[in-house]
Amino acid sequence: MSRRADPLHALTWRTTRSGAGWGPASGRTPEALRRRRFPTMTDLERAARRRSPRFAFDFVDGGTGDDRGGARNRAALDGIEIVPRYGRIGTVDTGVELFGRRYEVPIGIAPTGNDGVAWPDASRRLAGTAAAAGLPYVTGTLASASIEDLAAICGERLWFQLYGMPRDEHRVSIDLVRRAEVAGAQVLVLALDAPVRSKRPRDLRNGLSVPFRPSPRLGVQLALHPAWTRAALRSRVPLFANIARYVDAPDGEPDLGAVAGFVQRELRGGLSWDEVRRFRAIWPRSLVVKGILHPDDARAAVDAGADGVLVSNHGGRQSDAAPAAIDVLPAVTEAVGDRCTVLFDSGIRSGLDVARALALGARAVFSGRGFLTGLAGAGDVGAAHVAELLTEELRTAMAQHGALDLAALRRLAIRHPTSWSPR
Ligand SMILES: Cc1cc2nc3c(=O)[nH]c(=O)nc-3n(C[C@H](O)[C@H](O)[C@H](O)COP(=O)(O)O)c2cc1C
Repeated sequence: MSRRADPLHALTWRTTRSGAGWGPASGRTPEALRRRRFPTMTDLERAARRRSPRFAFDFVDGGTGDDRGGARNRAALDGIEIVPRYGRIGTVDTGVELFGRRYEVPIGIAPTGNDGVAWPDASRRLAGTAAAAGLPYVTGTLASASIEDLAAICGERLWFQLYGMPRDEHRVSIDLVRRAEVAGAQVLVLALDAPVRSKRPRDLRNGLSVPFRPSPRLGVQLALHPAWTRAALRSRVPLFANIARYVDAPDGEPDLGAVAGFVQRELRGGLSWDEVRRFRAIWPRSLVVKGILHPDDARAAVDAGADGVLVSNHGGRQSDAAPAAIDVLPAVTEAVGDRCTVLFDSGIRSGLDVARALALGARAVFSGRGFLTGLAGAGDVGAAHVAELLTEELRTAMAQHGALDLAALRRLAIRHPTSWSPR
């Protein structure tokens, strides 16, 4: 029987959303139409590919080298089996406490620099999604809106990810951290996993540069993708909103080229453990080290004062030889799970993937491409749709597998054939 003709399917789809009662997935509200048009992340990816200029889609979708890292993330997640347990009926509770704060779902928005390329004004849309859906949103150093503007939108949901700028004893980095503190960001995330700029062949082939260099090819791409182009014309936001104030400009505002040049010269996406300790000393709230793949690095992060580690291979964007992040999550959890909060990202495309990572020990799970793909595929409301999709699918996965809360999810029997422990 096809999905469309299956009355049970039509009825169950909304059950998990409200957590109460059965209702048909019909109706003509914009939300109902979106649910039918984009029932999965795959539908959003297809739409994003169609609606975005090639350089924008490839910027988000692509990884380093031959994109093996991203493919490895997917293959590893797909291979994980969870054995359901039946006879456990009741209300699903997805609530979780992270760093002293309660969240309704263990899902967050990962930091994505240069996000305005994916969808103009993306940072503000992501902050709005975080506020409405109650998710943590990690804004990055290279976001398209400033820490202060984003804090005004999503308040204490905001976390801040720092890329260091080491010149003059980290003058700029330290100022960014202080701004995050004053703005009320709850967690400082130090990303260690981009010590060099990785080679991204798809960006090179597309001639992607910041700022854009006009060319006939670019003009054609913009003309063929009016939704993206209209949004870009409407938003007119600077791409590196956090950074402009640090760039000397003889007559006031620096132009985008000067800001991009500053970032190119000054930014280093990796920190030493000594530097981690220095930021620990000046940051009064919770601190997370992002990009961990080795249990010994997880121990070093905790020894340097981290309250959490984020297991991640940067979505396959830094090393094509890096392990699938999910494959080393159990080893990291075993090493430091009793000393700090273990978080996870890389490869998440569904609520079932979220359930897999939670079952393997993550306390919360983040997505980078997922939310950007939502924006690119469905426009301004697309990130909120992704939040709803992931939440609903997670609830469904938990109910289906007989895990009514996150602790029960961790007790399920799991087969993870590609799991390994780096030594
Ligand atoms: C377009 C894009 C830009 C990113 N920029 C950053 C960044 O500035 N800082 C950072 O720590 N991670 C960055 N990441 C990595 C994400 O935070 C996250 O680790 C990754 O997206 C997870 O994999 P997923 O995209 O498969 O969910 C970026 C990812 C993407 C897709």
